[in-house]
Amino acid sequence: MSSLLRHFVLTASAISALTIGDINGNKFLSPYNGQAVSNVSGIITAKGPDGLWIRSLTPDRDLRTSESIYVFGRAFGANLTVGDSIVLGGKVQEFRSNKDYIYLTEISSPKLEKKVSSGNTVKALVIGKDTADPPTEQYTALDGGDVFAVPNNVSLVSVANPVLDPKKYGLDFWESLSGELVTVRKPKAIAKPNNFGDTWVIGDWKVSGRNQRGGLTLSDGDANPEAIIIGSPLDGSSNPRTTKLGDDLEEITGIITYAFGFYRILPTTAIKVTLSMKPDLPPSTKLLSSGKCDGITIGDYNVENLAPNSTHLSTIATHIVSYLASPDLVFLQEIQDDNGPTNDAVVSANLTLSSLTKEIAAAGGPSYAFADIDPVDDQDGGQPGGNIRVAYLYKPTHLRLYQGNPGTSTDANEVLQGPTLKYNPGRIDPANKAWTASRKPLVAQWEVIDKGRNSKFFTVNVHFGSKGGSSSIQGDARPPVNGGVADRLAQAQLTANFIKAILDEDRNARIITAGDFNEFTFVEPLKQFAQISSLKDLDEVIGIKETERYTYLFDMNAQQLDHMFVSNTLTKKARYEHIHINTWVDSAAQISDHDPSVARLDVCV
Ligand SMILES: *[C@@H]1O[C@H](CO)[C@@H](O)[C@H](O)[C@H]1NC(C)=O
Ligand SMILES: *[C@@H]1O[C@H](CO)[C@@H](O)[C@H](O)[C@H]1NC(C)=O
Ligand SMILES: *[C@@H]1O[C@H](CO)[C@@H](O)[C@H](O)[C@H]1NC(C)=O
Ligand SMILES: *[C@@H]1O[C@H](CO)[C@@H](O)[C@H](O)[C@H]1NC(C)=O
Ligand SMILES: *[C@@H]1O[C@H](CO)[C@@H](O)[C@H](O)[C@H]1NC(C)=O
Repeated sequence: MSSLLRHFVLTASAISALTIGDINGNKFLSPYNGQAVSNVSGIITAKGPDGLWIRSLTPDRDLRTSESIYVFGRAFGANLTVGDSIVLGGKVQEFRSNKDYIYLTEISSPKLEKKVSSGNTVKALVIGKDTADPPTEQYTALDGGDVFAVPNNVSLVSVANPVLDPKKYGLDFWESLSGELVTVRKPKAIAKPNNFGDTWVIGDWKVSGRNQRGGLTLSDGDANPEAIIIGSPLDGSSNPRTTKLGDDLEEITGIITYAFGFYRILPTTAIKVTLSMKPDLPPSTKLLSSGKCDGITIGDYNVENLAPNSTHLSTIATHIVSYLASPDLVFLQEIQDDNGPTNDAVVSANLTLSSLTKEIAAAGGPSYAFADIDPVDDQDGGQPGGNIRVAYLYKPTHLRLYQGNPGTSTDANEVLQGPTLKYNPGRIDPANKAWTASRKPLVAQWEVIDKGRNSKFFTVNVHFGSKGGSSSIQGDARPPVNGGVADRLAQAQLTANFIKAILDEDRNARIITAGDFNEFTFVEPLKQFAQISSLKDLDEVIGIKETERYTYLFDMNAQQLDHMFVSNTLTKKARYEHIHINTWVDSAAQISDHDPSVARLDVCV
């Protein structure tokens, strides 16, 4: 076949003169997916390393159809430049690099049919001014109103392919601007950059869930789809890695695309911090121990894989002394064994914990004692070989284990008449398969050394299974896969039933449950935990503003994985604070991925 004939055959079978809006259509997937097109007109708005973006010359008035599209082909743009008006042909294609992502509509195998003119003006659309405001709460119609609903992954964007509703759903909004050149005015970083420098931002549009630091806090029914991540700059420069939550940035202009699980803006050049959020660090807690049973202080801190030789050990000690004001009792999670990630038979954490208590004393803190139970080797998940477990630090001058009788790793604790514990401390039902590859909660009963007062109380230190295996909140599966949620539900039920057994013995029992629940209070595992145990969420009890309830940053959301729940008796006079010592600082200064919290409770009521 002569090349002229081939050209004729190809163009004859191609659909001619569709607009870019036609090609994108009003859904996630193009109605022309897989088909050849010709005579598509557009102006080049930006160029990237592997292709370029064109914008329609004949925009429609349908908000749902993007007027721009990506043209994928490395060589195609060699003689073309921004502002060129061109006519091209090619193949409409839906592309994703991973089956769990949403597809990107593009024109592949492009052929230039005509260069019409050059030097046309290209103006970016200002988000929230030339476009609607991004929706602030929901992601897609397929989430049924709750992006954390259980069960999840009940439908796929790529299969359901709903008609877009860009005024209501965040994914629909960003999809309706796929390929578009946009400007973000007055951008603010709402998280730390990832390892590639990708940074979540909001612009000057309307947002919900704003916290005092400038970030967006996740809450029930509001998962913040109005945020957008800024990806790799188109000019080959690199985004800074030192950006912090709340930093102000220079105005950003770039192309909206979808890659690596998220709608993102590829900026024309690297983002720049114009004003660094201050102060760098939060104030220390104001909650101080009374030294008696009417005001004991409780700390809670996931110390992220702490081993005896961890470089962050001495800073953790400083945090406990300076920022948590040396609580009477500290709930710790992620204490590793005495040789950390070395994968051998060592399970004891005596050296890890005594190294920490020594550093605390050296930093001017008290001489803490500690209590933990070694796990069975390699059975509790986390970093391989690390044998992470939960542990308590306590001031032996002020607290003691009531009739201490530690259980072993395999002993299942029981509530005895009194109520007291069969093992003090002891683990909850460690053989139950709900705890496969996860930490077993550590229950203890304590006595305050404060003469003449009846002041015993129970504690449950938890570190529920991780969210590993989750799919992107902007991924194909709807609602997104909340990794490990079934395990956490079973873990929450077991823990809550143990607590209920204590309260069945004594409805006025004083019980504190704290730790890293790896879940939000408004998702099924913790809803059931609160309901079965009848414990109260201390954030609710104190009335901490919903937007200030966060201990962790993930994607665009400030969120709360670490909680403290108390029995009814302890709600009176309770106080509680989250100390944002790790979420506020830049990545290099972050000591753990979680913020600690401190409470002050009257346990002699
Ligand atoms: C190409 O499209 C234009 C409108 O954009 C139309 O006027 C023209 O007839 C089309 N050419 C062919 C060969 O289809
Ligand atoms: C770009 O222009 C050069 C010189 O005219 C030509 O050799 C080359 O084939 C062109 N490249 C493309 C992709 O059109
Ligand atoms: C600590 O020691 C372990 C081996 O016991 C080693 O794998 C790890 O790299 C060491 N960490 C530091 C910070 O030195
Ligand atoms: C750790 O300390 C406990 C309590 O002091 C002790 O019973 C145990 O033998 C110690 N384990 C190791 C490996 O030193
Ligand atoms: C969601 O379910 C589909 C089957 O409907 C499956 O192919 C896909 O792998 C699941 N996604 C995730 C992230 O687990």
